[in-house]
Formats: sequence, C-alpha cells, structure tokens
Amino acid sequence: MNRIEGVAVIGAGTMGSGIAYVAAQAGMRAWQIDVAPAQLERAREYHAKTASRSVEKGRMSSTESDALLSRITYHGSMAQGAAAGLAVEAATENPEIKRRIFEEMARTFPESTVLATNTSSISITSIGAAVGPGADRVVGMHFFNPVPVMKLVEVIRGLMTSDETVARTVAVAERLGKVPIPAHDRAGFVSNRVLMPMINEAFYAWMEGVAEPKHIDEIMKLGCNFPMGPLRLADFIGLDVCHDILMVLFRELGQDRYFPCPLLRQLVTAGRLGDKSGGGVYDHPQ
Ligand code: CAA
Repeated sequence: MNRIEGVAVIGAGTMGSGIAYVAAQAGMRAWQIDVAPAQLERAREYHAKTASRSVEKGRMSSTESDALLSRITYHGSMAQGAAAGLAVEAATENPEIKRRIFEEMARTFPESTVLATNTSSISITSIGAAVGPGADRVVGMHFFNPVPVMKLVEVIRGLMTSDETVARTVAVAERLGKVPIPAHDRAGFVSNRVLMPMINEAFYAWMEGVAEPKHIDEIMKLGCNFPMGPLRLADFIGLDVCHDILMVLFRELGQDRYFPCPLLRQLVTAGRLGDKSGGGVYDHPQ
C-alpha cells in the first residue's frame, strides 16, 4: 500500500484552507487549489494567522512555523498538484459542481491517487458514478469546522469504494492527527443525520416561543455541555448549509420530520445566513 506524502486540496474556502493547514502541520506537502485568486489569498492569510497564533501560544517555534507555511503552495489549477497521493475536494456543496470537479480530478490525478470529497451530505456513490471507471478510489473524508481544532474525520465508503482506498484514507487521517470513524453512504452520514434534526428542532422551539434563542442556546450549553448552543452553531455552520443538508435528508430519507423549519427557511430567504453574512439567528458584526 503506497504511503501518501502530500495532499492536494481543491477549494480554498473555510474547510479547504483548514485541511491544507492540518496537512502542512503534519509535515506533509499541501497544494491549495482554487480557481478564484481572492479565495487563495484568503487561505494564505488564514494559514499565516493560524501559524502565528501557534507561535504566540508557544506550540511551535518561528522556524517551525516558517517550515509549515513553506509546505503549502497555492495554485489555480489541479494539474499543479498531480504529484499528491490524496486529492480532497472541498468545493461548494452543489452536486453538479462536485460532479464536474470529480470528472476533472479523475482525468488529472494518476490512478494511484485517492480521490476524496469533504461533502457533508452528497452521496459518495453518486460522485463515484460520475468518475466511472476508477470509482473504487472515490471516498468521503468529512472534516469538521474549525478543521485544526476538531478531531473527527468521518470516512464514508461508497458502493464502489475499495478496501485499499478506505485503508489509505484512514492512515492519512491518523497522520493528520485526526480520529477517523467509518460511516456508510446514507444521507447525512452519521454526523449530520443526528446534528441537523437537533438544530431544526431548536428553530421549532424558537418559532413556537418555547424560549428566546439565547436561552435555548444557554440551556443546551449549560445542561448538555455543548461548546455552542444549536442556534449559535447553526450561524457558525451557515443557515443555508443547514437548510440544504436538511433538504437532502428530507429527499433521500423521505420523512417529513427532516423538512426545514419555516423560520429557518425564512431567514435563509432573507439572506440571513449566519456568521458569513453578518447575521443569522444573531447579529455578527464582521
Ligand atoms: N482555525 C484554527 N484554530 C481555531 C479556529 C480556526 N478557525 N477557531 C478557533 N480556533 C482555536 C483557537 O485558536 C483556540 O486555540 P487556543 O486554545 O490554542 O488559543 C481554540 O480554538 C478555542 O478557540 P476560542 O478560544 O477562540 O473559542 P472557543 O473556546 O469558544 O472555541 C470553537 C471555539 C472551537 C469553535 C468551539 O466553540 C467549538 O468547538 N464549537 C463547536 C464547533 C462544532 O460543532 N463544529 C462542527 C460543525 S459541523 C461541521 O463542521 C460539519 C458539517 O457537515 C456541517
């Protein structure tokens, strides 16, 4: 089994930039790839800021920080990262966009490269089907935000994923300092199958006047030891993302209980998407 020495990360948003950072932190080469130069610049700033915070906190020396940052390179096209043994797609959560990216990944990366997706809800089997021959190397590698902090990687096997692909994905996740846990390819996998109905229920509790948002969050923080209450977490994840994941659960699992709460739908329609738009359940000055 080939050991993976480098990671090409397609997409330089919040998740993609976090994945490239943890790869470099683990001593691996990281190719950060995005078609938008502004996004690459934001990723570069995030990497520099995160490394400098670690130096301030005494977790690494400035020499180690320089070495970490030098292991990340920034590119506008996938071909430049073709030497990586693992390519992780972390682009926008849109099935059509992902399908096109995977078609290009299959053409660009050698057959020995594992093709992983950080999707939070889209079927790994359907992404594998877009690749056609070679679907055995397609796997779900689901990281959590903020990637440098959260320990979990959900490893999802599609119908065509090979044992070797899963084993190589697990090995690299461990090398990144993460805890890989397997899940089958069902809508929302485990994390979002459990988390999103809870978030949806918090919106219902708010809509029905059970308590104010801040009280719902405080109750869940102090009573269940959550680091963030469910409504604050929804803002952190993005209300549009929560909405879209719930719609996937609703469509794929065919049960009304997954349908997004009217209040959540209204906020999304109004453009209140959470932290990223300056406000969602709460106002977040940017
Ligand atoms: N990148 C790197 N490090 C970060 C970070 C980021 N974006 N955000 C926070 N950190 C680090 C901070 O630097 C800090 O490190 P030190 O202790 O070494 O200084 C540490 O995390 C704690 O941060 P803060 O002190 O600023 O704040 P906090 O104690 O309130 O923690 C939090 C912030 C880690 C985000 C915490 O509130 C938390 O764990 N929240 C829940 C997050 C969660 O549930 N994520 C999963 C979302 S679901 C998902 O991602 C998948 C999906 O499919 C939807």
